[in-house]
Amino acid sequence: MTNVATTFPAVRRLNFGFDSHDAELETEKYFADGNMVFSHLVAILSAIFPPGEDIFVRSVRRYKDQLADPDLRKRVAGFIGQEKTHALHHRELNEQLSAMGYPTAWFEYLLQSTERMEKFLDKQYPSPDRLPRLRHFFLGFTVAAEHFTAAWAENVLKCPEVQAMLYDPEIRNLLNWHALEELEHKSVAFDVYRAVGVPESTRIRWMRFAQNCGVPILVLASWISIATTDRTGRRQPIRILRETVQMLRTPMWAGFYSAMRPFKKAGFHPDHIDTTELVGYWQRELFGAEGTLAGHLR
Ligand SMILES: [Fe+2]
Ligand SMILES: [Fe+2]
Repeated sequence: MTNVATTFPAVRRLNFGFDSHDAELETEKYFADGNMVFSHLVAILSAIFPPGEDIFVRSVRRYKDQLADPDLRKRVAGFIGQEKTHALHHRELNEQLSAMGYPTAWFEYLLQSTERMEKFLDKQYPSPDRLPRLRHFFLGFTVAAEHFTAAWAENVLKCPEVQAMLYDPEIRNLLNWHALEELEHKSVAFDVYRAVGVPESTRIRWMRFAQNCGVPILVLASWISIATTDRTGRRQPIRILRETVQMLRTPMWAGFYSAMRPFKKAGFHPDHIDTTELVGYWQRELFGAEGTLAGHLR
């Protein structure tokens, strides 16, 4: 069993070198393995991270005053800090991707649609005990999405093939840093969910949806992204199909479906999956004295 649950997620302030003005000169359009579909998919993930992370933060923060365990409150503060920093730096990258022609603003706008409704309800009904079904629904979504992200993060960090596919060094740096922190805080939202006493069935239902629809929705969104914004890409339907198959066969998705399975069992906890060694390795690799991102720290 891992000791992740007793550590506190560290919030790191960083400087990434994203610059929308030089985007076309500096970065190859298909920056992910030269694969058009994979590059659009990474751009979509980057676009939906900030509004998605805002939902996670709101869903967890709503309960922060109800948490009796001071350690959990401290972990929640770390979780919120990490997710907010992810959103901040993904928004910087999204501006660069947008200058390169990716429709990141549209995807971000679509997922942002719950924000107004949530903020309005939070103001009208500040007690988290009001509207419990809706609020449990968002917390269940957060917990399932956090497991989905942790499985993705594990694949990104443990597969040298995935590392090699991300050509652009700064995009790779951002994704590695994000993936590391997703593993560092992977059980925080889950522990809040348990402390609040939300039924197990809510998160399990969300996982069924994420497992069955997550990857197909992402592939469909990549096709829409190509069809609507990529003039060169949309003229090459055979290439789109071929690269979709190639992308789905990359190690980034290897074992993804089986990684979702344990989550659907009652009694599951994210720390049942031991990622301590992987986290330690990448903490040294990125932020050790000679770490790749040591110079990025503010
Ligand atoms: Fe995140
Ligand atoms: Fe997260």
